[in-house]
Amino acid sequence: MHLPKIAMIGAGQVGATAAHLIAKKELGNLVLVDVDAGMARGKALDIAESGPVAGFDVAVSGTDDYADIAGSEVVVITAGMARKPGMDRSELLRKNVEIVSGIARQVAEHAPEAYVIVVTNPLDAMVCTVKEVTGFPPNRVMGMAGVLDSARMRRFISQELRVSGKDVTAMVLGSHGDRMVPVRGSSTVGGIPITELLSAERLEAIVERTRHGGGEVVELLKTGSAYYAPGASITEMVESIVRDQRRIRPVAAYLQGEYGVSDLYIGVPAIIGSGGVEQVVEIHLTEAEREQFDASVESVRKLIAEARAVSGPGGA
Ligand code: LAC
Repeated sequence: MHLPKIAMIGAGQVGATAAHLIAKKELGNLVLVDVDAGMARGKALDIAESGPVAGFDVAVSGTDDYADIAGSEVVVITAGMARKPGMDRSELLRKNVEIVSGIARQVAEHAPEAYVIVVTNPLDAMVCTVKEVTGFPPNRVMGMAGVLDSARMRRFISQELRVSGKDVTAMVLGSHGDRMVPVRGSSTVGGIPITELLSAERLEAIVERTRHGGGEVVELLKTGSAYYAPGASITEMVESIVRDQRRIRPVAAYLQGEYGVSDLYIGVPAIIGSGGVEQVVEIHLTEAEREQFDASVESVRKLIAEARAVSGPGGA
């Protein structure tokens, strides 16, 4: 069976966790790339050695040489500094624009046909940086955030109602961060609208917890940020591309007039298939959600302007 090649840039906690899940599902052969070649090789070897017990045979290798990503169908960019408690947002932005611009240049050179999933924070600005530096068409560059934010909301709802999270759907749009927009009308449990099962107060509390879901984990871990739920979310997106599943998931997609917004990456529902972001799906937002979405758009525009100031005209 032909297996696609999947490159994971950054062999830290998020990259390695995603690689492990991708290997377990046998979605493709994996190449882990990290500036720390030993870490990339060591984690790749460890994941590969789990195969006979966990039940997979895909190839997993590690490297610090970008030439090794040649022929990748999907490239996932997880490299960058993680959020630290109390870290200044601009400081994180500056460091990660530099790191991600450098990676994007390597991806454009060595895997010019790849679909790119960006994970590095601040997400909405990083995915925009990757599109600008690679010059790839918008359907081939997307960001992972909405699947993760929605997963958190689904889990909180499932705990509250004591039902399987598998039966809970939720849709969290907008930017990744405090300004994300959980869409109540798109949340159902076994097909039942969430508003019939939860009081407005309980739902509001869940929405609030979802908004700070990343931060809640950061505060507990003290060093580093979440990686199991991000790893699972990356895996779902990779699977939808390499198996052409055409799933409708919330992803950071490039808007060209949808939702009345142009030339901007932000979280919206989209069909994800073998052509990457195949279509942005426009859903009805209530007036309050629309206001939150617009505020989200504003905050992303500011973030992107700040990122561009670091990367220079036309990208770094
Ligand atoms: C999270 C941060 C790290 O949501 O983006 O976990």
